[in-house]
Amino acid sequence: MAADVTTTAEWQALRTHADEIRETHLRDLFAADPTRGERLTAEVADLYVDYSKNLVTDETLRLLTALAERVGLAERVAAMFSGAHINATEDRAVLHTALRLPRSASLTVDGQDVVADVQAVLDRMAAFARRVRSGQWVGHTGERIRTVVNIGIGGSDLGPVMAYEALKAFADGGVSCRFVSNIDPTDIHGAVADLDPASTLFVVVSKTFSTQETLANAREARRWLVAGLGGDEAAVARHFVAVSTSDQRVRDFGIDPENMFGFWDWVGGRYSLPSAVGLSVMLSVGPERFAEMLAGYHAVDEHFRTAPLERNVPVLMGLLNVWYTNFLGAQTHAVLPYSQYLHRFPAYLQQLTMESNGKSVTVDGTPVSYDTGEIFWGEPGTNGQHAFYQLIHQGTRLVPADFIAFSEPNHDIGDMHDLFMSNFFAQTAALAFGRTAEQVAAEGTPAELVPHKVMAGNHPTTSIVADRLTPATFGQLVALYEHIVLTEGVIWNINPFDQWGVELGKVMANQLAPLLTGQDAEFADVDSSTATLIRRYRRHRGR
Ligand code: F6P
Repeated sequence: MAADVTTTAEWQALRTHADEIRETHLRDLFAADPTRGERLTAEVADLYVDYSKNLVTDETLRLLTALAERVGLAERVAAMFSGAHINATEDRAVLHTALRLPRSASLTVDGQDVVADVQAVLDRMAAFARRVRSGQWVGHTGERIRTVVNIGIGGSDLGPVMAYEALKAFADGGVSCRFVSNIDPTDIHGAVADLDPASTLFVVVSKTFSTQETLANAREARRWLVAGLGGDEAAVARHFVAVSTSDQRVRDFGIDPENMFGFWDWVGGRYSLPSAVGLSVMLSVGPERFAEMLAGYHAVDEHFRTAPLERNVPVLMGLLNVWYTNFLGAQTHAVLPYSQYLHRFPAYLQQLTMESNGKSVTVDGTPVSYDTGEIFWGEPGTNGQHAFYQLIHQGTRLVPADFIAFSEPNHDIGDMHDLFMSNFFAQTAALAFGRTAEQVAAEGTPAELVPHKVMAGNHPTTSIVADRLTPATFGQLVALYEHIVLTEGVIWNINPFDQWGVELGKVMANQLAPLLTGQDAEFADVDSSTATLIRRYRRHRGR
């Protein structure tokens, strides 16, 4: 789609339609259609999605689908699955979906049998995980591994830590995991302070194996390990494994490629959890559970690939997000998991959505004339209720929100889950329908307090419910959001798979690093603000 999407008849029709919707309240939409709460729902694999509490009519959905057709969404989706180089600025295929193809599938891309490559790495991961979990793989002094420390950042951290936390109820290998990402030395210090090097395994995860934070943390981990094991460098071989696309850099770091698990440049960092990047998750829950997670992903991939646009759940949810961003003026999007296990899910989604769609030029380099990239944020319910929900209920901003919950808890303690879920159901209802001035007054509220207690309602939410948080439903949920992101990216005509915007800061950090310690530092090319800040820092550090 070369032309500016805002000039299409489909976009213009949505603009006109948005003016009508602004006058409509969810109370009216529900009153006019008693079946709305059953009708505007969908299922994808084991996920039940209720989108009836969104600010949409059947006409809105029809117009949004027409927009998706106009921009050629189905063709873009097909291109991704086929291995076309849709990541044009890096000239790469985008094939995270191949990571979860069943063993029996076939896909050859750029002359390479992708399925065979993926399965070979999964097999090596599984063999390694079995040895560690069974105690067959021992450390340098013969002790079994009790703690795995995953060192990585961005996609090499957020996916694994989020999944590890999400699937803790399935952790059964006697191995616990910790995650170090920040180059702030406090992070690695805090992670290893109470550990015994003899029973600690470091998994260094970096697609490029050149990321400053990860290499600095990995070097410090190696120093700590060797010092703690009597200074014997040979210990590294039993306590360090790597996950990367670069054999050479792994070797240069001093990790034997025998102990390396590879992946490929067609897996974006933020899409890499189902690759070897998920090794720490596999060490925690075991290869069988990991396979169930991949099958969960695949079920949603298949739906996304084959379902018609109007019944395609990730497409529908992506289009709703476009609707709020571009036609109703939403600036942010809350994601509110009613599951403590998913407490890192919002942070994970921030990278997935914001690094993917935070772009301001189209695929051909033309500046966009419309907003892109949703700002995702959130906390698990019910903590959020006692923090920021006030603004969603009574503030002036439109904040569409996704509510995620599971009918069965992974720990059934008394009636606590019912109590918990009553909050989930209450919040979306309160947000949608609110409380009118008449209702508030009828409760005997003093007149001067009535305006303060009125709840306008009409705040849109989508409810996503599964029976239980399992590896399979977890994989389904992540795949759902991956494909929502692609849907938005295609409508906005941007490339969701590059991230040039993070490069400048990395380059500048490397350029500035010598100025922080050097005696005869050269400040010639540094702006006066940054130079003053660095000089002040140096004074405090006695340099
Ligand atoms: O933040 C930029 C980024 O390139 C992310 O896309 C990526 O997930 C992260 O850095 C880590 O990169 P790597 O896995 O190569 O260390």
